[in-house]
Amino acid sequence: MNNYHKSVLLQEAIDALNIEKGKKYIDATLGGAGHSLAIIDQGGIVLGIDQDEEAVEFANKNHESRIMNHELVLARGNFCKHRQDCERKRIWKSRRNIF
Ligand SMILES: C[S@@+](CC[C@H](N)C(=O)[O-])C[C@H]1O[C@@H](n2cnc3c(N)ncnc32)[C@H](O)[C@@H]1O
Repeated sequence: MNNYHKSVLLQEAIDALNIEKGKKYIDATLGGAGHSLAIIDQGGIVLGIDQDEEAVEFANKNHESRIMNHELVLARGNFCKHRQDCERKRIWKSRRNIF
């Protein structure tokens, strides 16, 4: 069962991101991955970050095919640290981020 609530402002967020196919994005508050999946459906590649282990495990279990297709990469931890690491180490050059 998906215990996560419905993604808020989903269409507004997707419109604002103006997603480009094949480009990378960060979803800094992965939760139930609703925003992440919507970005992927538009052709984006997502690094989904959540500090909550359950959220990361949920996405890992339920979106395995996206992970296998390299459309979704998961990271557990505080988004401030992960984002800084991504920028400093140039691990994930994201076009736009959603918080
Ligand atoms: C409202 S939910 C996100 C919903 C999600 N965008 C969706 O579409 O379902 C918020 C999530 O952000 C995570 N979160 C809050 N602050 C965070 C932080 N500083 N770093 C990483 N994750 C954080 C929480 O653990 C929670 O899972």
